[in-house]
Amino acid sequence: MDLLLRNLFQTLGKSRSVNRLAKKYGLRFGAGRFVAGETIRQAIDAVRKLNGEGRMATLDHLGEFVYSAEEAEQSADMCLRTLDAIADSGVRSNLSLKMTSLGLDIDRELCVANMKRILNRARMHGNFVRIDMEDYAHCQATLDIYRELRREYGNVGIVLQAYLYRTEQDVRELNALRANLRLVKGAYKESPSVAFPEKKDVDENLKRIIRQHLLNGNYAAIASHDEAIVSYAKAFVEERGIGRDAFEFQMLYGIREDLQKRLADEGYRVRVYVPYGIDWFGYFMRRLAERPANVWFVLKNMLK
Ligand code: FDA
Repeated sequence: MDLLLRNLFQTLGKSRSVNRLAKKYGLRFGAGRFVAGETIRQAIDAVRKLNGEGRMATLDHLGEFVYSAEEAEQSADMCLRTLDAIADSGVRSNLSLKMTSLGLDIDRELCVANMKRILNRARMHGNFVRIDMEDYAHCQATLDIYRELRREYGNVGIVLQAYLYRTEQDVRELNALRANLRLVKGAYKESPSVAFPEKKDVDENLKRIIRQHLLNGNYAAIASHDEAIVSYAKAFVEERGIGRDAFEFQMLYGIREDLQKRLADEGYRVRVYVPYGIDWFGYFMRRLAERPANVWFVLKNMLK
């Protein structure tokens, strides 16, 4: 049953027509638990509240289906506006983005140009940009562009996914760039030819790459709601005498608030990934796919 729901949510999330329909009707079915709002103002308010409770944020303007150069430019413009809004409001947040929304599938050079516009603006504001990692089909291209940008910019980081067999090698290679990495389990449906099919192997690999990256002396964003992973990381840094300024914990907006607050109260750096925008459906479906039990939460909201 879980597998069936997981596949259903993953398929729905990728459907352009369903996404378009969802966009028309505004945040529904309880998506507001995971998405901070449709406007930049709502997003900044959500970040301000998190900041007030000792948590930092990374804002993501949602936009997943970009098929023209014009749409890619608009998406990049929204990233600029988000960076400006962060600077104007004085909230503690950086920016996360996806390269496909900046035109990766349309024209590589357009995507690079959009990334540079965004990184220049972030640099002007003294801010940082994190490149999310999408499905396997985009992994190599995303990493190649990251490497190219990293030569010119110090304010850019990327995400690596523990479910991919290739990731341990990527962590090794990115050490040469002193990469700032967000380490996650991985959210897309991937073939066993490229990704560990068993959860326990993904968990082990996440611990392995956390160790590897921290021991290399590079900044790590440990992004997981899994208490076992969080406890593992806490014990590891304690044992190795790694300072609390060498890493941060990251979690998604609306998930494990209790754990987020507890870690912040304990004095760890905590950053919450705060998505916003009208293109919320694909993101919402991925959150449901991660935890099909969330379907009850959706049904409850539909009946309200
Ligand atoms: P796991 O799936 O084992 O969950 C552990 C516990 O967390 C669950 O038992 C439950 O309590 C809670 N939980 C997890 N997911 C939940 C959900 N959807 N709803 C309610 N409770 C939930 N992936 C990717 O491929 N590319 C990326 O760029 C990113 N970026 C990213 C940023 C940040 C800040 C986070 C936290 C995560 C990502 N991810 C991601 C998603 C990541 O790959 C992964 O799918 C989720 O974090 C779920 O995995 P966990 O590590 O939380 O563990």
